[in-house]
Order: sequence, then C-alpha cells, then structure tokens
Amino acid sequence: EPIGEEVARSPVVTIMGHVDHGKTTLLDFIRRAKVASGEAGGITQHIGAYRVNTEGGDLTFLDTPGHEAFTAMRARGAQVTDVVILVVAADDGVMPQTEEAVKHARAAGVPIVVAVNKIDREDADPDRVKNELAAREVIPEEWGGDTQFIPCSALTGQGVEALLEAVALQSELLELKAVRDCPASGIVVESSLDRGRGPVATILVQNGVLQQGDMIISGTEYGRVRALLDERGERVKTAGPSTPVVVLGLSGLPEAGDEVLVVEDERKARELADHRREKSRDKRLQAQKA
Ligand code: GTP
Ligand code: NA
Ligand code: MG
Repeated sequence: EPIGEEVARSPVVTIMGHVDHGKTTLLDFIRRAKVASGEAGGITQHIGAYRVNTEGGDLTFLDTPGHEAFTAMRARGAQVTDVVILVVAADDGVMPQTEEAVKHARAAGVPIVVAVNKIDREDADPDRVKNELAAREVIPEEWGGDTQFIPCSALTGQGVEALLEAVALQSELLELKAVRDCPASGIVVESSLDRGRGPVATILVQNGVLQQGDMIISGTEYGRVRALLDERGERVKTAGPSTPVVVLGLSGLPEAGDEVLVVEDERKARELADHRREKSRDKRLQAQKA
C-alpha cells in the first residue's frame, strides 16, 4: 500500500451511454480539439486513454467501448473511473443501455454528468431526457437534485466546453488524491502485441511515478520498462498519478483491469509471477474437483 503524503490528482472520466447516442463522436471531438491539435500531422495512435487540458484542469478520458469494459474492469476489482459522462441523445431519450450505465455508475459509487447530446437536431427534446432520468432518480440540479445536465452537440461542438467544465467542477467536489512518493502502481487499460515493439500496454498510473527503467509486474507478466510513450506517441521519462502511458518492455500481455506494480528487481518479479501462476493453477484444480 502506498505510504507518504497525499497530493491532488486529476480525474479519470469514462463516457457511457446507449448505442449511437454519440459517445465516440464526443470523445473524437474532445480529442481533436484538445489533444491532436499539437501533433505533427494530427495522427493519434489508439492507446485507450487520453489526457486533455481544459480550463478547469487536466482530465484523463478512458476510451472504452462503453460499459462492458467498465464492468469487466470492476469485475477484476479495478476501480479506475472517477466521473461518468452519461451521453443521452436528445432525439431518442433514455434507452436500455442508458439505464444499464446508470446502474453501473451507481454500483461503483461514481458520480454522473449527463451530456444531453444531439441538441442540434430539430427533433431534440432535452426536457424529455431530464424527465426520463429524473424518473430513475438521476435528478437535475435545477430540480433540486445533484446531477448536472449539459445540453451539447458532439457533432458541432456546441456545449462541449461547458460539459468539460461541469466534469471539472464535479471532480473538484471529489477532492481526488494520490500518493506520489511511493513505488508506482496502476491499472492496465488495454494491451496488444505490436510486430516491431512486442507487448504494448496502456497503463493508468494511480500512485507513485512510473519511470523508464523500472521493473514492473502485471498479472504473471513482468519486465523492465524500456520506453514510456504519451497519447501522442512521444517518449516521456516519467508518468505520475492519473496519467495514462504506453509501456514497452513487458514479457507478455496483461489483461485490462490487471494491477501493475513496480518491484525492486527481476528476482522479486519472477518470485511474484511464479507465486501467482501456482495460485491460479491451484484454483483451476480445485474448480475441476468441485
Ligand atoms: P456505439 O459506439 O455504436 O454505441 O455508438 P456511439 O454512442 O459511439 O455513437 P457515435 O458517436 O458512433 O454516433 C452515432 C451517430 O450519431 C453518428 O452518425 C454520429 O455522427 C451521430 N451523432 C453523434 N453525435 C451527434 C450530435 O451531437 N448531433 C447529431 N446530429 N448527430 C450526432
Ligand atoms: Na455508433
Ligand atoms: Mg462508439
């Protein structure tokens, strides 16, 4: 467990909502406006998490395909999200996956900011969204509740700045903290095998400061961090709390939701990995007997 002084950290945000309500379009708009603008050629590699700068401070977005990834991570015991942006299309209203998303956010104790999306459409009915969510106990602030509803259009960008401000405001209330002065730890957001670079993992650092050269273990995979890359694909030397970072140097592919720990040396990593392998083998054998 981390020891040391707690310092403020920036929030980690997940976008959820019903199919086609505009999650990807919204994240694309935010990313283009806030991340890609500084890039040569505007090429952003897919890394599964993005850090954006807003007036209210930095925000880290998890680029999950919705609540499946959120649920899968929670099932592995990983709590990575601080705020959920619930995207509801104003021309469609509350749908089954909207309700699912509300349930997941509630179960995880994560506050919701509602993006009342597609308000550029003629048939948009933002009041219907408020009524339908209020009926599910997601009550707008202006009705005496504690949830911010922000009308916006992911297509035109109208209201997106206000949405980011609302998220920043909501996050401030949470007084998010992390310990910097401890061995780094975090959670795997995604991993893939790259032809040239070998196993590539996107890690959300939660405590400590991950550094090039650190020995890390995740699940039963371990290795020395050969390189750290930010969301622009540029090399960085370190990554602190709430920073997503691409890590090269692991021996294999950890799974999304796996914890990542910095350990003293390779011997320690191997010991831990062996121990974990034995444990999971025992579990399998027991399951077979039962
Ligand atoms: P899934 O990932 O399939 O669940 O969908 P999604 O929630 O990511 O929705 P997506 O961003 O793919 O948008 C679905 C469709 O709605 C696309 O055709 C978008 O162009 C359109 N769309 C998204 N946001 C807006 C908006 O604010 N206004 C309008 N008019 N169309 C939008
Ligand atoms: Na879609
Ligand atoms: Mg999508």
